[in-house]
Amino acid sequence: MSLQHQQFLNVRLTAHYFGGTSLHSLDNMHIFTLLFNLALSATFPSCSSAKRNDAPIIGVLAQEVFEPQPHMTSYIAASYVKFLESAGARVVPVMVNQTLEEYKSLFNSLNGVLYPGGGVSIVSSGYATAAKIFYELAIEANSRGDHFPVWGTCLGFEELAYLTSGENLLSHTNTSGVALPLNFTKESRDGRMFKGFPADVLSALATEAITENSHQWSLTTESFNSRKELKNFYRVLSTNTDGTTEFVSTMEAYKFPIYGTQWHPEKNAFEWSRPYIPHSPAAVKTTFYMADFLVNEARQSFHRFENEEEEKKALIYNYNPVYTGVKSAFEQIYFF
Ligand SMILES: *[C@@H]1O[C@H](CO)[C@@H](O)[C@H](O)[C@H]1NC(C)=O
Ligand SMILES: *[C@@H]1O[C@H](CO)[C@@H](O)[C@H](O)[C@H]1NC(C)=O
Ligand SMILES: *[C@@H]1O[C@H](CO)[C@@H](O)[C@H](O)[C@H]1NC(C)=O
Repeated sequence: MSLQHQQFLNVRLTAHYFGGTSLHSLDNMHIFTLLFNLALSATFPSCSSAKRNDAPIIGVLAQEVFEPQPHMTSYIAASYVKFLESAGARVVPVMVNQTLEEYKSLFNSLNGVLYPGGGVSIVSSGYATAAKIFYELAIEANSRGDHFPVWGTCLGFEELAYLTSGENLLSHTNTSGVALPLNFTKESRDGRMFKGFPADVLSALATEAITENSHQWSLTTESFNSRKELKNFYRVLSTNTDGTTEFVSTMEAYKFPIYGTQWHPEKNAFEWSRPYIPHSPAAVKTTFYMADFLVNEARQSFHRFENEEEEKKALIYNYNPVYTGVKSAFEQIYFF
């Protein structure tokens, strides 16, 4: 049996499975459309032979530590680095407190940027300053056809909501340590992020608690819908609730490669210090397919360092992560 036939069969089987099951989040029509699109894309691979960058380098924003010490003023949790590396990207840390010129030069050298989760201000921290600069450069570049993906996870998601709306619209939710299934929206069928996901991972995402939430603040569906700056900019792909308040959990910009997840795709495969982090096969596949999606976005960017020496100097390989699992929520951290 050809691979394509096999994939098509799997899709048929899954569609059948869904047909007999009541799903809280995806209506049957939606599942069929989603899976039909998947089947189509599996059967008719894209014929375009557009150029592709198979050596993408993605920047990850550092952020200030809570209690600075010598040589430990900012950090990146290593799981974000592993997340990107697992799908074929290399990583460059984007340090706080750089000059605009330094950030611009980095922007022109990188193929995407990831705003990780954490605990600093989305308005006034060094992380927020760097995020704003990269966001504005990315809007400008993408507007003239220079593809540059921006990804926000948790705090990074909240940062994106702030940058796009110009307001801090977050509401308190009871979501400090809980794994949830995604409640996919009808609109998600038109989205890009989950298009390449295998049907089994997609169905697990919709039915099993495999997206890890560690946030006290959320963008409620109500706040989102009340701001045209957000509504016109982002397609909501999924929502969740804490039992009382519904919030946006996954979104992507309509016209830009800008993506946000309030949940943590990187944790399932790489973090072990909390009991609510899911590690099932579908949970770990979710980590990979999210990374694969983002890295494929970065493969459409052709920014590069001026020379190999500059590239080598910037890569995260110049730093060693420290084992912190005994006292922190992260197994390993890069300190700067
Ligand atoms: C960034 O700059 C501010 C202001 O000069 C300083 O207080 C802070 O310690 C710096 N942070 C880092 C991580 O370098
Ligand atoms: C918060 O959510 C947890 C489940 O994740 C639940 O056990 C707890 O009772 C909730 N707390 C409040 C104040 O609603
Ligand atoms: C999923 O979202 C819909 C609205 O889009 C809502 O009616 C439904 O209650 C939600 N389900 C869950 C489990 O949150």
